[in-house]
Amino acid sequence: MGYRIFFGACAGLFVMVTSQAALSTTIGYPAPVRARSGMVVTASRYATQVGIQVLREGGNAVDAAVAVGYALAVTDPCCGNLGGGGFLVYRPAHGQPWFLDFREVAPRAATPSLYLNAQGEPVAGESLWSWKAIGVPGTVAGLEEARRLWGSWSTARLLAPAIRLARRGFRLSPGQYRELVDDARRLRADPSAMRVFFRKGQPRPAGSRIRQPALAATLTRIARGGARSFYQGEPAHAVVAASRKNGGILSLADFADYRPVVTRPLTCRFAGNRVITAPPPGGGATLCEMLNILSGYPLGRDGFHRARSVHWIAEAMRWAYADRNRFLGDPAFVRMPLRRLLSPRYAERIRDRIAPKRATPSSEVRPGIRMIREGHDTTQYSIVDRAGNAVSVTYTLNTFFGTGLMAPGTGFFLNNEMDDFTTALGHPNEYGLVQGRINAIAPGKRPLSSMTPTIVTQGHRVEIVTGSPGGSTITTTVLQILLNRLIYHLGASASVDAPRIHMQWLPDVLYYEPGALSARTRRRLARWGYHLKRGAPWGSLHWGDAESIFRSPLGLWEGVNDSRHPAGRAAGD
Ligand code: DON
Repeated sequence: MGYRIFFGACAGLFVMVTSQAALSTTIGYPAPVRARSGMVVTASRYATQVGIQVLREGGNAVDAAVAVGYALAVTDPCCGNLGGGGFLVYRPAHGQPWFLDFREVAPRAATPSLYLNAQGEPVAGESLWSWKAIGVPGTVAGLEEARRLWGSWSTARLLAPAIRLARRGFRLSPGQYRELVDDARRLRADPSAMRVFFRKGQPRPAGSRIRQPALAATLTRIARGGARSFYQGEPAHAVVAASRKNGGILSLADFADYRPVVTRPLTCRFAGNRVITAPPPGGGATLCEMLNILSGYPLGRDGFHRARSVHWIAEAMRWAYADRNRFLGDPAFVRMPLRRLLSPRYAERIRDRIAPKRATPSSEVRPGIRMIREGHDTTQYSIVDRAGNAVSVTYTLNTFFGTGLMAPGTGFFLNNEMDDFTTALGHPNEYGLVQGRINAIAPGKRPLSSMTPTIVTQGHRVEIVTGSPGGSTITTTVLQILLNRLIYHLGASASVDAPRIHMQWLPDVLYYEPGALSARTRRRLARWGYHLKRGAPWGSLHWGDAESIFRSPLGLWEGVNDSRHPAGRAAGD
């Protein structure tokens, strides 16, 4: 923790003395890992090792991504998962890029009022900590689909390292121990979780070896029978039986019907680059809207984290998040004015409404999003292989350990992604998002997400592979990594580690990470009408760990394990 703040403070100092910020060095930041042919960056050193081994043995980036996805489900239990869902952006070295949506869906029996009492009021905790909070998991179907379409190895071969790690065990990191302590009350309620992660009623200490025989059995089942054995076999039966017994609504048909969606990613242009990112229900539309707005401002000239550039960036965040809440949802269920939202003219119209040196009061924008606190319960990993194929994956259980519930014998946590829907109009979800009707619950529908796995290319070359956890802050994290690199030319580590800011329209607050804004800049911004708040969770062990890869000016891959999550690792080939 002290370590983080040290880097934060360094960055702040560094930033304050550097206005034009042609910062191509890594001064004040740890050096990235450099390699010529391949790179894997994940939130777990075990999973990184698995990924790099796949690349060394001739697997491609998608093979590595699948093996890493399963390995994280074992070694990063808060966030890596079988019981959740996510997004994958794949940019092959040759041909068009792809987007794979393996987000959870609402069960067939879900209704818009699932979490309301007879008076129409939300029942506290129902969409988060009950068996009703669980969306139909998408991870296993998603990883299998990626392998089938673009991978070259068998399921069994890709699963072997994860099975080994589940059987033999992995060592709990200090950060993971803290996660267990933070969530102990919830996890204690689940006997299966207790058996694995607790001893004599207490979380196992850092350094303990965690063995997961039940999870190993589930993984072995998938290795032998593929996704079908998960969705139509014992794991689905076990989850449905436990759900029925405990007041949940999942059915066998929900599992049998689950399908990932393969489509083209959303793309937009920024600073001469092509940004390839997650379309709705992912966060890429919001990312591109912010980039479009910002392309009309001289951010470079106005300086890195100086009052003027922060003003433009915060306003772009404010306006784009207001639109997110109002206009975005699952494309299979709702119509969205994407073309208009992402047109240069629309960006220009927003810029017309942004006055220099004046924060637009959020009440003058539109109803919508309120931030209560940030989350940290998702995980991002980035991979490139020697052929130049690139993969960016963000997947999640939603909050740490999801519901904290496991079906007996399965060994994996179940998500609480249903809370990402508009569970009650006018009420904030876990990330403070007060969302609209467009994101209402419906059977088979995917909840709107902020997850924004992203790949940036210039011509044929991959320049950046990135993404982040962080709930509603995910999209602004990705935005800042792109700005840090493409506009301010920061070094790879600085692009990821530099302290961040966040604004999400409502509350009308500009959050900043320690070290992000100098006292002088804060005073100016306050004079212009900003309500500033030091975002307490920022810089804590797991917040927004954007595990990323950059191409260096010399053509090397530079892998950056976000210092906010030191348990992660970058490794090159
Ligand atoms: O999909 C979403 O937007 C959220 N369920 C992501 C949750 C998250 O990032 C939590 N942790 N950082």
